[in-house]
Amino acid sequence: MNLLDVVPVIPVVVVHNAADAVPIAKALVDGGLPVIELTLRTPAALEAIKRIANEVPEIFVGAGTVVDTHQPQQAVANGAQFLVSPGSTPALRGAMRDSGLPHLPGVSTVSEVLKLLEYGYSEMKFFPAEPAGGAPFLRAIHSPVPAARFCPTGGITPANMGDYLASPNVGCVGGSWLTPADVVARQDWATITHLARTARELANVTD
Ligand code: 3PG
Repeated sequence: MNLLDVVPVIPVVVVHNAADAVPIAKALVDGGLPVIELTLRTPAALEAIKRIANEVPEIFVGAGTVVDTHQPQQAVANGAQFLVSPGSTPALRGAMRDSGLPHLPGVSTVSEVLKLLEYGYSEMKFFPAEPAGGAPFLRAIHSPVPAARFCPTGGITPANMGDYLASPNVGCVGGSWLTPADVVARQDWATITHLARTARELANVTD
């Protein structure tokens, strides 16, 4: 499957309390974004993935911030359906491939892009997008390296997402702005639905 073509905006979510996971997932689905990437940066992340996989079957749930070779199997065991890593090493790629899940390794330079193409990947995460050159970087490498397609994350906002999505080698963008920490802390699920719906509408404008 092509991970970059499921939704135009992948919500990247940091969950500190596993009890928040299901209402966040439902709020995103209600806002028209039935994909969620739970970052493996908090002790609650694997439990959050498990709860979403069990209780919100209509969302496509994945694990992000995969940075060590044990995490892909842990993610699978908890019901993850895709994996995302901010980078790419031979061992990490091997572990992600062994999981059997669709996955996006991360790149931030042309040589890293070429290396992943050599390994048979055409879809990658571009991270950290804004510090690493942003939409101009992606547009500039499309002509010399047309086979690579990207999901940029890191500094994407409603204000700049359209610029990224307009680049021919961008399939979708990802970001944490859909689930701000303060909004999650006050369990304001309606605001998450609103942010998701707004992102979805903005993305449609660039179609
Ligand atoms: C990621 O893990 O992809 C990024 O940390 C998300 O970046 P953002 O918080 O700038 O959206």
